[in-house]
Amino acid sequence: MPSSKSAKDFFRPLAVGAPTPPTEIPARPSRAIHFFDPSNEKMAAKIPQMVGTVDVLLGNLEDAVKADNKEAAREGLVKIASETDFGPTQLWTRINSLDSPWVLDDLTRLVPAIGHKLDVIMVPKVQGAEDIHYVDRLLAQLEAKAGLEKPILVHAILETARGVANVEEICGASPRMQGLSLGPADLAADRRMKTTRVGGGHPGYLVRQDPVHEQPDAHRAIFQQDLWHYTIARMVDACATHGIYPYYGPFGDIADVVACEDQFRNAFLLGCVGTWSLHPKQIAIANKVFSPSVEDIKHARRVVAAMGDGTGAVMLDGKMEDDASLKQCLVMVELAEQLAAIDPELKKQYDAIEVD
Ligand code: GLV
Ligand code: MG
Repeated sequence: MPSSKSAKDFFRPLAVGAPTPPTEIPARPSRAIHFFDPSNEKMAAKIPQMVGTVDVLLGNLEDAVKADNKEAAREGLVKIASETDFGPTQLWTRINSLDSPWVLDDLTRLVPAIGHKLDVIMVPKVQGAEDIHYVDRLLAQLEAKAGLEKPILVHAILETARGVANVEEICGASPRMQGLSLGPADLAADRRMKTTRVGGGHPGYLVRQDPVHEQPDAHRAIFQQDLWHYTIARMVDACATHGIYPYYGPFGDIADVVACEDQFRNAFLLGCVGTWSLHPKQIAIANKVFSPSVEDIKHARRVVAAMGDGTGAVMLDGKMEDDASLKQCLVMVELAEQLAAIDPELKKQYDAIEVD
């Protein structure tokens, strides 16, 4: 929180008549944030049928939308949002970057027209708290003018070196902050990494087993490393510190479903709550990976049952469980409850678990 601002002011609207900023960001399931291009009529026509099949639908206005189509994408999103009942599915948008000629029109057009339907606005290429402050005030002005009752939340993409350096201040820059996504493609370019991919690993980034003594030609195993581990870990810590949610981002090799699942799972294990989906087949991968497995929930419930009042230590299957492992299990159990509330198939699986 900036020291020049009183703690009390932090939760006052930034424009007269704007909704009160939230003090907590609810944990709404968002395993897959499915990107669509609202200027692509074929893609847009499928959106109403996708409601209820994915946690978040995101109308993308930024990269991957051609400059000539920016206006059509914006208008396409207004049309889809106005005509569709999203039910339990969240509607997000990714606006153009703050240094682009399109972003001001994105915000001034979308907020009055469909602000009551937009849950979250994703802001790309965020560099520091100043970018969030700019969006925060502008949103408050537009919300006040439009008479909105619920504040629109803000999500930042971490995809510049300066953004990573400022990750904590970005997360704490506004009570509207909902979360962060990793943007591995832009981040790689900005850092001058020597990769040419959209997310995922690289076969050259590895460690090799030591040479075998006196056998110079013996096989030495190699282990590919995760290029994104450092950034995801920083992102998770910054988000947890500020009570908001971290997400993996795009995995561009749509055909490589195996590596996609691995990358998503690494992010899940490190603390992320979801990821982007660039193709319908990535929705299924994300829903599977970002939902705790039946085995994990079974184990977690056993620990919860065995730990009684939550203090002390017990032995289960030869392993020590204590207050801290109980807290980990509670994270899983709570997540399972939130997901079961919106996913009847998953609820059936969790309900069928018998704890022995
Ligand atoms: C996403 O926007 C990325 O640059 O990876
Ligand atoms: Mg990007």
